[in-house]
Amino acid sequence: MSNNRCKQYQSAFAEWVGAERAFSFWKGRVALYAIFKAMGVADGDEVIVPGYTCVMDVNPIKYLGAKPSYVDIEPETFNINVELLEEKITPNTKAIIAQHTYGYPCDMQAIMEIASRKGIPVIEDCCLALGSTYKGKLVGTFGMAAYFSTQWNKPYTTGLGGMVITNDTELAEKIRLLCEKEMRLPSRVEVMMLAAQLAAYRMFIYPKTTALAQAAFRYLTKKAAVIGSSSTSEFEPAMAPDFFKAMSTVQARSGIRQLKKLERNIAHRKKMAQLYDQLLEEKGWFARKYDTSTMEPVMVRYPVRIADKNKALTEAAKAGIELGSWFECPLHPIETPLAAYNYELGMCPEAEKASDEVVNLPLHPRTCEKTAKRSVEFITRFTKVI
Ligand SMILES: Cc1ncc(COP(=O)(O)O)c(C=O)c1O
Repeated sequence: MSNNRCKQYQSAFAEWVGAERAFSFWKGRVALYAIFKAMGVADGDEVIVPGYTCVMDVNPIKYLGAKPSYVDIEPETFNINVELLEEKITPNTKAIIAQHTYGYPCDMQAIMEIASRKGIPVIEDCCLALGSTYKGKLVGTFGMAAYFSTQWNKPYTTGLGGMVITNDTELAEKIRLLCEKEMRLPSRVEVMMLAAQLAAYRMFIYPKTTALAQAAFRYLTKKAAVIGSSSTSEFEPAMAPDFFKAMSTVQARSGIRQLKKLERNIAHRKKMAQLYDQLLEEKGWFARKYDTSTMEPVMVRYPVRIADKNKALTEAAKAGIELGSWFECPLHPIETPLAAYNYELGMCPEAEKASDEVVNLPLHPRTCEKTAKRSVEFITRFTKVI
């Protein structure tokens, strides 16, 4: 099913992360679906996920008839609280998703220890953490498989895009067969629209124009005039007939180009995150807190907790400040009908608190020292949360 350009991108990606095999897809969520389907996740199974995630992560679980089981997060890294993990494991647990949130690696030693004792595979969600390391090893190389996203807001973008990596020969063969038998190609119109959007992104999207561009993009997505990251059908747990789609040549070509610049991208993100640490500390605000002896995060965005999130978001849009808001509810985005996803408010109090408080500052390659200074000047006018 993969064309030559996709094969070339898959090989380059696998080589960069040091994995045996890589498989590319139209989106990250499609990559996760492929892993679960190949693993045989089905009716009656349970999959453990953090209660602070994107609903698109939970959809593949529901599409296959399985049930998500939510574990609350720990407040500093927003990752699964390993103290709460074991009690969620039941005889029906088929997999654990270790999501490396904002770029902070999960406590992989604890997760892998629990998982191997219980005989449950770990799937790493590296959509926000390309290049982060835990104990000197890249995230994505601990579990049975990992998946990545290259959607607009991710470590690098191919517009939309997803990748699976694995060293498990049996799983890789099952994914290969699945792709060969069931995967569709994106339509010509979809690919042309995505290519046009990528060109527009390269020309026009800078920190000052982001808020306006995002508003326009959301409007155009509703009118079906652009290829949005999510269609309306994806806010319900029912799979659309054309969901399981391959990566296009346009995306693969862009991915190959971005991989060549990845080391520079990572160095820039690390430098910018340190600058935010310093600028925030100078203002008496808290910088990042994580275990520096085990983790070296490559942050996708820089999270900050404030008391007046909605006000800050409204004012940021007016002031041309690129302020992000993930996750706005335990299963981002807010419109999600939580009950349909087996989530009840109160299940994950830390995740709910983080959803109310966290905004994030940009770190991508188009940011510079001036962006960081403006962002910090702006955000420190609001009320910090301790
Ligand atoms: C943590 C996380 N995992 C997975 C995804 C899904 O990735 P994609 O949009 O490429 O399907 C997202 C959202 O985009 C995400 O934030």
